[in-house]
Amino acid sequence: MPTVLALETSCDETAVAVVRDRHVLSNVVSSQITIHQQYGGVVPEVASRQHLETMNWAIAQALQDSGLQWSGIDGVAATCAPGLVGALLVGLTAAKTLAMVHQKPFLGMHHLEGHIYASYLSEPDLQPPFLCLLVSGGHTSLIYVKDCGQYETLGATRDDAAGEAFDKVARLMQLGYPGGPVIDRLAQDGNPNAFALPEGQISLPGGGYHPYDSSFSGLKTAMLRLVQTLQKDTNVLPVADLSASFQAAVAKALTKRAIACALDYGLSTITIGGGVAANSGLRQHLQQAAAAKNLRVLFPPLKFCTDNAAMIACAAADHLSRGHVSLLTLGVQSRMELSDVMQLYGDVTQLYGDRP
Ligand code: KG4
Ligand code: ZN
Repeated sequence: MPTVLALETSCDETAVAVVRDRHVLSNVVSSQITIHQQYGGVVPEVASRQHLETMNWAIAQALQDSGLQWSGIDGVAATCAPGLVGALLVGLTAAKTLAMVHQKPFLGMHHLEGHIYASYLSEPDLQPPFLCLLVSGGHTSLIYVKDCGQYETLGATRDDAAGEAFDKVARLMQLGYPGGPVIDRLAQDGNPNAFALPEGQISLPGGGYHPYDSSFSGLKTAMLRLVQTLQKDTNVLPVADLSASFQAAVAKALTKRAIACALDYGLSTITIGGGVAANSGLRQHLQQAAAAKNLRVLFPPLKFCTDNAAMIACAAADHLSRGHVSLLTLGVQSRMELSDVMQLYGDVTQLYGDRP
């Protein structure tokens, strides 16, 4: 498979990586979290500026760490959707420039396809079809992975994404940003059964509930009410018990839907991607439930679960090996369905003539 250098700047990580044959040759991730923490969340304009400042260093470092020269790189890729448009533009423009200067094919990438490909980095022999539970700050989806570029979303959140719910609940308990890792840490010392919380089911018009869709806004409101009531009664919030109960509610809801979906579609492997895949409660719940049903679950290492460019390079290499290349006129998009991913590519010979 080709060797690809990829850039990822869809949110608050400036990341550059080189991947060959699903093996990571270099993986540079410069997180902006400490800068955004003072604002309680990601400030898009600040993120774009920070990407600009860090990008040149990150590219040079990733190339150096890979031990390769530009002659050893077969293609340059960058995330172009979905994400913060200003932030995406920095990475996409840099990748197009590198592709032009070094005369390499250029590929615009879908961020969520990258999260799916994180599983191939830890399991290079993984073969579709499989089910991917994608849980990040902006997305909560169950994706039927049929082949490279062929995806069907079978389940999704109707409101907040799982990571967003972690961040909002952490904020209402004044635990800081990002909320997921803090809640995960506090939950280790808490009782997951301390508080009864709603599951967030989606009613169907004909009765019953949607088997794969989820909702986290009811859970978030229940947490808000609980915190307000507890604050009236006590000076010190039982944050460990609250965190453990909330985390267990999210983990149970996601696990139930993922298992049902895999069984209904006859998929024996579930992979997991996105920042919330780092959650220890979710890992434990899903692992146990899957084992009970003889399903295989693949969790990529934590460094590939949160935003990184290695997962983008891995996906790009697969596309490039099939002759998929993007036009240099490709733009960024804040939103884009995963099922539309093939709109990003044309045939290599149509786009570049005889040039590889
Ligand atoms: O995939 P990601 O790095 O960026 C997006 O594409 O959104 O995911 C970030 C999200 C944040 O909401 C963060 O709170 C959550 O992942 N997260 C976690 C954990 N680590 C990160 N959520 C729960 N438990 C964790 N250990
Ligand atoms: Zn992400």
